[in-house]
Amino acid sequence: MKALVTGAARGLGLATARRLASDGARVALLDRDPLVEEVAAALDPRAAAVEPMRAGEGPASIVNISSVLGVRGEPNGAPYCVSKAGLRMLTEVLALELAPAGIRVNAIAPGAIETDMHFDHLREIAAADGTTFDEEPARVRAGIPIGRHGTPDDVAATVAWLTSADAGYVTGQTILVDGGGMDR
Ligand SMILES: NC(=O)c1ccc[n+]([C@@H]2O[C@H](COP(=O)([O-])OP(=O)(O)OC[C@H]3O[C@@H](n4cnc5c(N)ncnc54)[C@H](O)[C@@H]3O)[C@@H](O)[C@H]2O)c1
Repeated sequence: MKALVTGAARGLGLATARRLASDGARVALLDRDPLVEEVAAALDPRAAAVEPMRAGEGPASIVNISSVLGVRGEPNGAPYCVSKAGLRMLTEVLALELAPAGIRVNAIAPGAIETDMHFDHLREIAAADGTTFDEEPARVRAGIPIGRHGTPDDVAATVAWLTSADAGYVTGQTILVDGGGMDR
């Protein structure tokens, strides 16, 4: 398998690149942070060149990373929530358009996953609420039925499944990887 992973220098992209490489994929990495060069070097010699995905070249799939905040809103979150909700619909539309070309399109909607981005978000919430950052992770966990934050590997494992032949009949879906948080 060949894969192109965006945002691969850290967080969910890094975990996904590592997971797909360890599963035997040749992985091309993209990130605006030059740190991605070190990540790519660590994955060599299986690194792939970036090539366009072409119809008729065999099974292929796209996995978009949406968010639970594309499913339910959050105060002051209009740009993020709207863009993530749009990505969910883009996934559905592209799945319909690309199915005849043998390309599946799915999305993952992560909940609270332990990455730089998540902890930066908690710092913003603490600043806005006048609380301290130290209180925030426990407050988030209290709202997650499984009782813990997600890890980047939880998301990477779902990407690995969605890109595998085991998910060959799955397209147009947004899979929530959120510890059951949406059921509250
Ligand atoms: N962490 C969470 O809890 C969480 C929850 C829901 C959705 N998400 C989504 O998952 C995705 C990854 O988030 P993360 O937590 O890994 O973030 P992160 O900040 O830890 O990592 C994001 C990476 O993407 C790179 N990047 C950002 N914009 C880029 C651009 N325009 N071009 C190239 N590279 C770019 C950054 O340099 C960084 O390396 C995001 O789309 C985010 O909205 C994350």
